[in-house]
Formats: sequence, structure tokens, C-alpha cells
Amino acid sequence: MAPTPVWLMRQAGRYLPEYRRIRARFSLLDLCKTPSAAAELTVLAVERLGVDAAIIFADILLITELLGSGLEFVPGVGPVIRHPLRAGADAERLRTVDPAEGLSFVFDAIRLARRALGGRTPLIGFAGGAFTVASYLVEGRPSRDFLRTKSLMYEDPSFWHDLMQKLTTLTTDYLNGQIAAGADAVQIFDSWIGCLAPGDYRRHVLPYTRQMIAGLAPGVPVIHFGTGTGGLLELMREAGGDVIGLDWRVDLGQAWHRLGDGVAVQGNLDPALLLAGRDEIRRGVRAVLTAAGGRPGHIFNLGHGVLANTPWENAVAVVDMAHEESWRSG
Ligand code: CP3
Repeated sequence: MAPTPVWLMRQAGRYLPEYRRIRARFSLLDLCKTPSAAAELTVLAVERLGVDAAIIFADILLITELLGSGLEFVPGVGPVIRHPLRAGADAERLRTVDPAEGLSFVFDAIRLARRALGGRTPLIGFAGGAFTVASYLVEGRPSRDFLRTKSLMYEDPSFWHDLMQKLTTLTTDYLNGQIAAGADAVQIFDSWIGCLAPGDYRRHVLPYTRQMIAGLAPGVPVIHFGTGTGGLLELMREAGGDVIGLDWRVDLGQAWHRLGDGVAVQGNLDPALLLAGRDEIRRGVRAVLTAAGGRPGHIFNLGHGVLANTPWENAVAVVDMAHEESWRSG
């Protein structure tokens, strides 16, 4: 049996020394908008970590620039939206939005990365889920409780619909553009849906996610990911995706059982384990593989992105261990 495929979320993140060296000279936005640099960072992560898939170097918030967001990455804060969308008056901005061709630098990066990978390693394209991108657009900065977002959802459902519909249409076009440029699979990062009650997810998010996934070019696997989704798994399955991405708060075996047959799963090691010693990391890797039980259709990954202060040697070690341990148990 072949070993379980492995890749890591935030593969080319701040913990890789080469990334830090390049980042010292260019801003994150400049890197994303320079296709040769983005392609190089994509390939670098594969070479450095030994993973089985590449993920294009970009960010889920680039798409907000089409809505005139004034996106910035502020050290110590994270992504900041200078012009948040909140009041009914902001709805006008939704009507004057540029199409996703404004993100053609990502398509160029995909073409370059694919050529550099030479057909040896599949390339994953990605975008944010409409809820997660909307939450940044409304809050203006990272949030714990998403109160502004929820208030808008509850108190102005018509504006919420316009916002979600606009993001859904743009993101569908954007992902199809990535597929046309050569992405072999796409991941939808709806990272923060776990803050929602199941009924609110069903009513205010699921229809848009379903529409987005149904609108993607057929034949390209879709990974549908969120965190804190223990209460939403069946609904995520209903929304769609060939693979459901799980975080570490759920047992992967139980979650897969709830998702049912005919769907693959990705996950779900706690990224905090990469700050621990090697024995503890190996124990965690084994636990994930045991929960998957050798069933075909498991992609080994962390349950969320690699943390910024992770020793890069531990990111390499986790990839090696997942390969070794899945060979052994297979
Ligand atoms: O995995 C990869 O290396 C591919 C590139 C990638 C980035 N962002 C580049 C990036 C991917 C897949 C993302 C996705 C992303 N971005 C998500 C969804 C995944 C998740 O973590 O839930 C979200 C919510 C964002 C928004 C974002 N971008 C945040 C919250 C932050 C700041 C926090 C952090 O971890 O740094 C970013 C910055 C960011 N995006 C960095 C990178 C490499 C670090 C920037 C730096 O060098 O300072």
C-alpha cells in the first residue's frame, strides 16, 4: 500500500529560514503579487519539507482588494482591512466590484509553479470561503467573537446576502481561473465557520458554499476546510467537497464516520505538537494514522496552519514521520 499523502497548511510560512530571508526584503503583498517570487516560494516549501503536494503561495484575503478593502498586513496585528464593509451604504461598493481578472498574478504564479514542479508534485490552488472572507471584510481585523459579522447577518440579511453572493461569484470565478491556469486541486479555507450555530450556518452560509462548489470546473478535487467544525460536519458535507478538512478538536475516525462514505478526509494533527519533543510528535502522528485506520482517502495534514514559532526541523520531521508510520501500518 502506498504511504498516506502529506502536505502542511501554511507550508511556506514564516518558520522556513529561506522564507524569512526573502520576507525581510519584500512585503507579503509584494511577494503574492510577484509571480516569479510566489512560484519560487511554492516550490521551496515542497523541496524543504518533502511534502507530496504544493500549495500556491498567495493569501485568502487578496480577493478583498477587488472590493477596495485597503488590505494591509500589520506586524503584530495580522491582516487589517482599512475600509471595512458594514453599513447599508457600503452595499454600493459591492455593485462596482472588478471581476476576478484583477487577480491574474495568482494565475501567472500557478503557471510558473506548475512548470517548475515538472509534473512531479500536484499543485493545490485555494481561496477563502465566503463566510471567512466576509468576516475579515466586516470586522476589519482579526476577531475572536465575530460580533460585527453576526450582527450584520442577523440584522441586515439583505446586505448579508448581497455580500455573500458577491464573494461567492467572485471566488467561483477566481478558483476556476486557478484551475484553468493548472491547479490540480483546490482548497476552500472557510477557517472561521466554527463560530456559528449549526442553524445559522445552514441558513446564512451553506447555500453560498454549495453554490461555489457546484460552480467549479468538474474533475478537479475540492477540499473543504474549517476549524471548530465539530457541530457542522454533516452540514459541511451537504455543502460539498470531495475532501473535508478537519482540525484536531475532533477524532478523525469518528468525524469520518459522521461524514459517511464517498468522501475523503484531511487532517488533523494539532499544530501545537510541533512545538513538542520528537517522541510526542511521533505519538501524535501515530494517533492520527490510527484514527484513519488505513482507509484510502486520508490526506495527512495538520488541523490548522503551522504556527509561526515552530522549529522548521519539526515541520520536516512530521512529514517524514507521517510517511514512515503510514508505510509501517500499511
Ligand atoms: O500554506 C502556504 O504557505 C500557502 C500560502 C497561504 C498564506 N495564507 C500565506 C500567508 C495560505 C494557504 C494562506 C491562507 C490564509 N490566510 C488563511 C486560511 C488558513 C488559516 O490559517 O485559517 C487565513 C485566515 C489567512 C489570513 C491571514 N494571512 C492571516 C490571519 C495572517 C496573519 C497570521 C499569520 O499566521 O501570519 C496572514 C499572513 C500570511 N499569509 C503569512 C503567510 C506566509 C505570514 C505573513 C508574514 O510573513 O508575516
